[in-house]
Amino acid sequence: MKQIYLDNAATTRLDDEVLKAMIPYFNEKYANASSTHFMGQEAKSALEKSRKIIAKEIGAKNHEIIFTSGGTEANNLALKGLFFWNRENGTGKNHIITTRIEHDCVLNACKWLEKQGAEVTYLDVDAEGFVNPEELEKAITDRTIVVSVIHGNNEIGTIQDLEAIGKICRKKNVLFHTDACQSFTKTFLNVKKQNLDLVTLNAHKIHGPKGVGALYIREGIKITPLFHGGGHERKLRSGTENVSGIVGFAKAVEIAKKKNNERMTVLRDKIITGILGIPNTKLNGSRNKRLCNNVNISFNNIEGESIGGYLETFGICTSTGSACASHSLETSHVLKAIGLLPVQSNSTLRISISKYTTEEEINYLLEKLPKIVEKLRRMSPIK
Ligand SMILES: Cc1ncc(COP(=O)(O)O)c(C=O)c1O
Repeated sequence: MKQIYLDNAATTRLDDEVLKAMIPYFNEKYANASSTHFMGQEAKSALEKSRKIIAKEIGAKNHEIIFTSGGTEANNLALKGLFFWNRENGTGKNHIITTRIEHDCVLNACKWLEKQGAEVTYLDVDAEGFVNPEELEKAITDRTIVVSVIHGNNEIGTIQDLEAIGKICRKKNVLFHTDACQSFTKTFLNVKKQNLDLVTLNAHKIHGPKGVGALYIREGIKITPLFHGGGHERKLRSGTENVSGIVGFAKAVEIAKKKNNERMTVLRDKIITGILGIPNTKLNGSRNKRLCNNVNISFNNIEGESIGGYLETFGICTSTGSACASHSLETSHVLKAIGLLPVQSNSTLRISISKYTTEEEINYLLEKLPKIVEKLRRMSPIK
């Protein structure tokens, strides 16, 4: 059977070059980066070289990058770390502003923080998934610690105007965090130009390994660590560093190319145009300010799950929402936030491509999909 992987927003194939870079750090250069002997120093040097590559990519200083076990941990470290530091230091600040379209790891961290005494504002977004900067500004109070807004949305692909939000945060003297797991290397991201104070990154969305990520923390910002131990990563994230994973993360960043993004944009647009040719379909998110690898379409009155199931019989893997949301049968909080009714939301398919996606694969998708939709519509009791 064919295997056509169109679920790259969930995770990506590890690049062979990344794997090649990682292997020596499992079986030859396997020492602990904290060890003082020459083998330890070799691992430490690989760690620091990787940190430099990632820092440079976002315009940060090397020591502002803290390695974590992925995006989930980095988001938790950012939000909980800031909240607890403020509480421990009696600043009187306990307010977090975020949006209704964040990844579950931000939303659930915020919900948990509410139980610990945090006040959280969940900003609404417009029909394309954009935060309104004026509303954001109005929500800031003298108790606000941080504004956390996702950069490229993992479900609908909308790319927020970080620069505009960053300016407001700077003006109002509050910190600005963004979850850039989906956008990293796919669109412009620069901590200085966008006034970013904290940024979440991970490796497995960019053909790097799973289980590795980073949190950029601007010099001078204080956070309380979540893990206590040997004091690794400037005492902010104890635990023996995942050297092979971190080397793979840096290699993935190093080989990410603008021209791949341009190619993906062309393929993405071909998919969008092709699918919108099917009657009664709707593109979710923004047409232009959109991740180069994301397509999210509602088909109305038929189940996204059924479309995905039929596509799978042809070897095509897609998703109905975020990989995490697929554990539950709840309708997507992101689609709800942009105003979709449950019946529209449940008819939605997310197609996410990568640099490995070929034109033939897309032609095959566009050949099979209209027939599947037609068949399901014929079978559907709702017309
Ligand atoms: C926007 C976003 N944030 C955070 C995460 C979580 O990252 P990780 O899987 O590295 O924990 C993901 C991916 O699942 C994501 O898409």
